[in-house]
Order: sequence, then structure tokens, then C-alpha cells
Amino acid sequence: MSKIDFSGKVAIVTGGGAGLGKDYALNLAKRGAKVVVNDLGGMRDGTGSGSSSAADIVVDEIKAQGGVAVANYDNVATVEGGEGIAKTAIDAFGKIDILINNAGILRDKSFVKLEESNWDAVLNVHLKGAYCVTRPVFKIMKENGYGRIVMTTSAAGIFGNFGQANYSAAKSGIVGLSNVLKLEGAKSNIKVNILAPVAGTRLTDDIVPPQIFEKIKVDYVTPIVLYMCSDKCNDSGCIINAGAGYYSKSAMATSLGKNLSEGDKIPTPEDVLENWDAITDMDNPKYFDQANDIFGELSLQ
Ligand code: NAI
Repeated sequence: MSKIDFSGKVAIVTGGGAGLGKDYALNLAKRGAKVVVNDLGGMRDGTGSGSSSAADIVVDEIKAQGGVAVANYDNVATVEGGEGIAKTAIDAFGKIDILINNAGILRDKSFVKLEESNWDAVLNVHLKGAYCVTRPVFKIMKENGYGRIVMTTSAAGIFGNFGQANYSAAKSGIVGLSNVLKLEGAKSNIKVNILAPVAGTRLTDDIVPPQIFEKIKVDYVTPIVLYMCSDKCNDSGCIINAGAGYYSKSAMATSLGKNLSEGDKIPTPEDVLENWDAITDMDNPKYFDQANDIFGELSLQ
């Protein structure tokens, strides 16, 4: 079996000071990567003035195990922060091969109670953060003709979750962003894959029952993240669920559908009523690589 090895590679892990990100950073370094450990060191809901100790502790641990790492304390949710993170990598190691967009916060509330501040804070860290960090990194990866990016979504973003309108919208937006970067990075050997993890961390410690929390160790998520960061991974645009040793792929699927226009006839709402089951029948689904593929289904000749 060929080995996953990151010797000579430079990796950035955002939110690398705790939880999943910490485990990614430690294991990338163990396998030879030089790692930028980014972490603002704030509270779970994104409040607090931040602390350099979160990233510093992980960097110290990597160095103690014989690895190479530098800390970065920038906020992923600002353009300056994203540029600062990329600059830390370039100044310390001269290039960027791998980016894991992992930093995250939570502010759960049912939709009617969800004030603008809680909407903005969550969208800013997750979705705008993915934009702010990936944009400068993507430019460097394109120049180098190589890149592996792992974005972090959530089952909440793929399927929905009660009380997480802000978080689900942000995490779903990350899938949309990744779908475009998959296309724009293809010519430059940049692969962009999307992780939906399940793990016991401070984000989940009061959400998941204790007996389950114990079983969903971050360690189970890291192997598939490392694979997606490696030069062995040649897929792009995959949404991967990972938790407790279980791994699967999720996807947007389209039904075979039905054309209700005969010749030039514009269908009526009653035609739709009559054919709703056929339109929405998800047996034999289709998967499209990009938006324009839908035109092939429209019988436009
Ligand atoms: P965590 O709270 O243990 O770690 C997140 C890290 O991100 C923290 O160290 C925090 O300081 C850092 N961070 C937060 N805002 C930041 C900012 N603006 N700039 C830089 N760093 C910042 O959480 P966990 O569970 O490790 O989450 C990692 C990612 O996985 C998040 O994107 C989360 O939404 C996602 N996720 C986690 C799940 C789980 O079961 N733990 C489920 C689904 C998604």
C-alpha cells in the first residue's frame, strides 16, 4: 500500500488550536508537512478578545514531536486576516500546498429568535472566512500548479438542523463555493473537497450525549482529511461525511424528471399537479459536474 506522506509540503490549518483542527495539524506534521497553525483563540460563540496560546500550544507540541510549525493568530473572517495567514506560510516556508478551512463558531437559536448579530457572526467566520483565506491561497496554488483544499461543511449544511439557520446557511454556502473552486482549480491541479465531520469537541460537548461524545473522537475524522490533503487524492468536489470510523459521500442529485411541454405548449399548473410524482421521483438520479449540464436535460433542439 502506498504511503500518504507530506514531506516537502506546506499546510495551513485554520482553527488549528483545538478540536479537529489541532488533530489535523499534529498529524500533518507527523507525516512531514510544515504546518501553519492558525487560531484566534476565542470562545465557542466567537466572543472574547482571543488568545495566542491556542495556536502556540499546538506549535509547541508539533516541535516537541520533531515537526516543523509556526503559529498565526489572525481572524479568518477578515480579508486582512486571510492575507496574513497566507503571508505567514510564505514568509516561513515559501509556498502553500495544502489548506484546511476548519475554523468555526456556533450561535444556535431558532429562526425567529435569530438576531442579525448572530446571523452575521456565524456567516462571517464560516463562509466569509472561507473566502478570505482561500482567495490569497488559491492565487499562490494556481501559480504553483498544485493545491489540495479541504473545506468544512456540516450535516446541518447538507440536510438542515433545527435551530441552526445561520450555521446551516453558512455551511451550505461553503459547498457552493467549493463547487466553483473545483472547476476554477481543475487546470492547475487544485483539488477542493468538502468535509462534513462528526466529532466530540467543544462545539458538540453539550449537544451530544456523553456516551456518544466519548466514541466520536476527532482521531476518526483525521485519516480521511489527510487523504484528501494528499497528492494521492485526485477527486475534487466530493462531500465526505466522517465520524467514528464511518465514511461516506453525499451529493446533490437530480431526478430524471419529465418534459411537460409538447412542442411549444407551455405546461399549466394542473399539468404539474398531475405529474408531480414523476417530476420528483428520485429513482435513477443524475449528478451534474457543473451548472451548464442542466441545459443538456432541457430538450432545447
Ligand atoms: P472547536 O471549537 O473545537 O475548534 C474550532 C477552532 O476554530 C477553535 O480553536 C477556535 O478558536 C477557532 N476559531 C474560531 N473562530 C475563528 C476565527 N475567526 N479565526 C481563527 N480561528 C477561529 O470546533 P471543532 O468541532 O473542532 O470544529 C471544527 C470545524 O468542524 C468547524 O468548522 C465546525 O463547524 C465543523 N464541524 C464540526 C462538527 C463536530 O461534530 N465537531 C460537526 C460539523 C462541522
